[in-house]
Amino acid sequence: MLIFTEIKSLQQEIKSLKNGTTIGFVPTMGALHEGHLSLVEKSKKENDIVIVSIFVNPTQFDNADDLINYPKTIEKDLSLLESFNCDIAFTPTPEEIYADEIQSQSFDFDGLEFQMEGKFRAGHFNGVGTIVERLFKVVKPHKAYFGEKDFQQIQIIRKMVEKKKLPVQIISCPIHREKDGLAMSSRNIRLTKEQRAAAPFIYETLKEAKIKFGTNNASEVLNWVENEFKNHPLFTLEYFEIADEDTLLPVETKSPSKKYRAFIAVFAGKVRLIDNISL
Ligand code: PAF
Repeated sequence: MLIFTEIKSLQQEIKSLKNGTTIGFVPTMGALHEGHLSLVEKSKKENDIVIVSIFVNPTQFDNADDLINYPKTIEKDLSLLESFNCDIAFTPTPEEIYADEIQSQSFDFDGLEFQMEGKFRAGHFNGVGTIVERLFKVVKPHKAYFGEKDFQQIQIIRKMVEKKKLPVQIISCPIHREKDGLAMSSRNIRLTKEQRAAAPFIYETLKEAKIKFGTNNASEVLNWVENEFKNHPLFTLEYFEIADEDTLLPVETKSPSKKYRAFIAVFAGKVRLIDNISL
């Protein structure tokens, strides 16, 4: 596996590839887990070469502590990628990506950015748009792979690709879960033993909400979920929302022709966990 930290040398390598070589790209912020590795595997199957970036993007963090505490396990990540036959790892510094101005651009995602995560993480999606567009321009992938745990992020990236006519196909991949149902996330390693043991409660609640949505309206389900979390000793609910998968707008009246998804964000102490389920 080749490892590049500089854009210039990565681009030289990409230029030297045989004409017609297809590139699959998996952008990550490191602290890799099975979810990321499943994206690498899928990308490997569907393309001639796979490039994985590891970059903890400062502009998508609305909270300085969260950025400082974001897990960083670069040596372990690189050996995992090597063992999954990744062809190229790209591990730039913030200066390499942003030069001397660590700042995001402003994007218009047709309102997708104002829902859910956008309400609670100021500037988050401008940061995501900035880094993903930058990486797409450097790597020039044919296909890019993203996990559905960040479903809103996928919809936002699709919107950016459509609006900016970027020549890349976005592939969304199902959420990878631990055996007990907890959605895999780099942040899970920050949970205490007690929080980790209790964390399947989040997915259990989503599954129950899905059943309830069959016979109840969205606000009844919402009230039920809020109640479930009200007196929870370890978790604080930030939001629960049932939204249209395409517009991400909260559902008002259920329509059989639309696809809905329930989204949740929960704090376990200072660790913020998100999850979602198709309804
Ligand atoms: O999902 C992530 O890990 C990040 O938001 C991404 C897409 C790598 C951009 O920094």
